[in-house]
Amino acid sequence: MTVLEVIQKSAEFLAKKEVESPRLQAELLLAHVLKLPRMKLYLNFERVLTAAELDATRELVKRRAQREPLQHLTGSTSFCGLEIAVNRNVLVPRPETELLAEAGWEFLAAHGATGTTILDGAHGVTRPTALDFGTGSGCIAIALAVKCPAARVTAVDVSAEALVLARQNAERNRVAECIQFAQGDGFAAVSADRRFDLIISNPPYIASAEIGTLQPEVRDFDPRAALDGGADGLDFYRMLAARAGKFLQAGGRVMVEFGDGQADALKRILEPQMWIVEAVREDYSQRQRFLIARR
Ligand SMILES: C[S@@+](CC[C@H](N)C(=O)[O-])C[C@H]1O[C@@H](n2cnc3c(N)ncnc32)[C@H](O)[C@@H]1O
Repeated sequence: MTVLEVIQKSAEFLAKKEVESPRLQAELLLAHVLKLPRMKLYLNFERVLTAAELDATRELVKRRAQREPLQHLTGSTSFCGLEIAVNRNVLVPRPETELLAEAGWEFLAAHGATGTTILDGAHGVTRPTALDFGTGSGCIAIALAVKCPAARVTAVDVSAEALVLARQNAERNRVAECIQFAQGDGFAAVSADRRFDLIISNPPYIASAEIGTLQPEVRDFDPRAALDGGADGLDFYRMLAARAGKFLQAGGRVMVEFGDGQADALKRILEPQMWIVEAVREDYSQRQRFLIARR
């Protein structure tokens, strides 16, 4: 079979299984097998696949038809232009979270001159500091460290398995020395005397009862601990509103992602606890997606 025939057959099969954007998915899987950029497939439509290439493609297309996420099959995804490995222990980083990370590194870079003084070797050096709460694959922490090299980031997750991958991702992106990883339940993983210029988080925010209604790629393959925000999806915001202030440096910011329609509920949680909601920002689809707050 030729490249074009494989794409057409795979796309037809994926469409029948109700996979979104079946042609694109077929092309991305085949490009992965052939180790080619997707656009190069278009220059190779007449190329005949070897038996091994055909078997490997069939296997991946079959798994995709069973709704395994594309990123699990290719092993990685792109986040803020960085390659981030993923597996079943971490949430697949979403494009909408890139804008949260971007707001984070812009704040850290601007804050550089007035940031926290931390010991760097024998000298006290002023560096902006950030806490990434619920780091998962490490995508936000890594983006902050790459885009704001002066920053020092603490990345916390309750999942030890997620942290193994987050560390590998930090090494792969050459920022492991800028990020300290800590395993534990929220702020319990952070020493009580730490203060950060930025506390940034994409916490679990799906209401428990809604998880069963999500698309199979999310429901069956993202870890439950990455999705479940409690009965109304807002448990982590209540906890952050109550506890984050103690870990925030004067002049610092909290930046949190949230789900569709949660903005007003979040404000109702934050404002009575002395938080000033400075901005609510939209994602690429013009949906309100994250907010910036200060004390
Ligand atoms: C929605 S995922 C976000 C992952 C990553 N930051 C991203 O944006 O792709 C939430 C993460 O919070 C972690 N988490 C859940 N409960 C936690 C807790 N009590 N303390 C620390 N991390 C927690 C989960 O393991 C998961 O990795």
